[in-house]
Amino acid sequence: MFIESFKVESPNVKYTEGEIHSVYNYETTELVHENRNGTYQWVVKPKTVQYEFKTDTHVPKLGVMLVGWGGNNGCTLTGGVIANREGISWATKDKVQQANYFGSLTQASTIRVGSFNGEEIYAPFKSILPMVNPDEIVFGGWDISDMNLADAMARARVFDIDLQKQLRPYMESMVPLPGIYEPDFIAANQGSRANNVIKGSKKEQVDQIIKDIREFKEKNKVDRVVVLWTANTERYSNVIVGLNDTMENLFAALEKNEAEISPSTLYAIACVLENIPFINGSPQNTFVPGLIDLAIRRNCLIGGDDFKSGQTKMKSVLVDFLVGAGIKPTSIVSYNHLGNNDGMNLSAPQTFRSKEISKSNVVDDMVSSNAILYEPGEHPDHVVVIKYVPYVGDSKRAMDEYTSEIFMGGKNTIVLHNTCEDSLLAAPIILDLVLLAELSTRIQLKADGEGKFHSFHPVATILSYLTKAPLVPPGTPVVNALSKQRAMLENILRACIGLSPENNMILEYK
Ligand code: NAI
Repeated sequence: MFIESFKVESPNVKYTEGEIHSVYNYETTELVHENRNGTYQWVVKPKTVQYEFKTDTHVPKLGVMLVGWGGNNGCTLTGGVIANREGISWATKDKVQQANYFGSLTQASTIRVGSFNGEEIYAPFKSILPMVNPDEIVFGGWDISDMNLADAMARARVFDIDLQKQLRPYMESMVPLPGIYEPDFIAANQGSRANNVIKGSKKEQVDQIIKDIREFKEKNKVDRVVVLWTANTERYSNVIVGLNDTMENLFAALEKNEAEISPSTLYAIACVLENIPFINGSPQNTFVPGLIDLAIRRNCLIGGDDFKSGQTKMKSVLVDFLVGAGIKPTSIVSYNHLGNNDGMNLSAPQTFRSKEISKSNVVDDMVSSNAILYEPGEHPDHVVVIKYVPYVGDSKRAMDEYTSEIFMGGKNTIVLHNTCEDSLLAAPIILDLVLLAELSTRIQLKADGEGKFHSFHPVATILSYLTKAPLVPPGTPVVNALSKQRAMLENILRACIGLSPENNMILEYK
């Protein structure tokens, strides 16, 4: 059974005007390695830490500024939200299709809230805490190409033609602001697109981005802005001591107009200085140590890297399942081919390398969780190939072969073939990223013994379900397994309304 919304009644939860306050017992464990009667042994001690959560329930009017707004993801997301907002339907060769938010965790998935008369009751994920309604987001952003969003949508060849015709009047007047272009950071084949660029030194470019954000906020009368990078994948920037390793050095490098500061890092600097959450949807190392340092010192949310949309999402489910089942994946080979501009940009070795890195580390946590299967340091062979094939356009093909060792030396090979429009996978993920980033800035918490409430750590691990290579604060474990990432997110939001984590025990029926 499905319910639209619910309210929690508990001595631990108070709904007041403008706030939800919850007291929450976090059940965890403490490990000690102790010498008992001459032999060392591991002792696990269950431990309860009391937390308090405070959620501001005033939902702001949200502006979202996309870097790479005129790209396939940018125009697909913008058009998709307009179609939902306007209730647009369109004829396809199969049927009349209604706009929807399928593929969005917040808008199209549910959580179990309990049972009623022997039936499981589910509610929308978005009903846990008050969130921005995506239909009400105001979009804007930058692109190094000045093409308006209606023409960009036609260039992307993602939406059906009948839908494009209906969206065109809404999107024709949407023109991206000039972007920061540095040819050295993306493929040379992107040069012909770059007709809309900010001139001046790197410092002047940062100042321009700050000005753009302020003007956008003012013009659209939005309360909050979130910025998200969905522009081309850049090459990695070199992390150099004295250049971008600390906040001070990064600022000094900016003043000196150092070539090695990437455009994406420049946008991120501007956002952090303006206390605007910044999310990186591409694989490059936008968040160099100096930028992370800056974000931490300014307590400004940053999150990334690289949308987890297709192949990697499957990988972080399948390998988790295999290793969790006591089966040993020994070889993972992933081929991709795609024909959109992203594919063209990734055909250059230095940008491909960024993608290869972010796609490669995704099984590490699962492998290291099982020393029965893997020797220390042992790792499955893992190869990622990406090829540009113009004809297939945005319809990306991902082919994966997983070979595993099973019982008594047997071998098992699983082959997957995945075809779909890349941008239709990414757009709802972008939506979730901005909605959850905004929500998480309204949550405050404190553990027992902490004097004051504080926000989550500025490096937003809460978004990791949506990213291929989750950015984590220094010294924090990286979790890639999709079910763990979802559980973490859902359970933290449940804690904010005083609900225990979903434990799937269903003891009522045992
Ligand atoms: P796209 O190439 O269609 O769009 C990127 C846009 O960014 C282009 O319009 C380009 O002109 C613009 N651009 C490039 N550099 C810029 C800069 N410095 N400032 C402002 N604009 C700039 O690519 P698409 O398909 O929209 O993907 C965007 C990014 O998202 C890519 O980096 C891709 O790797 C990443 N991504 C996409 C996924 C998907 O499923 N579609 C999944 C994971 C990541």
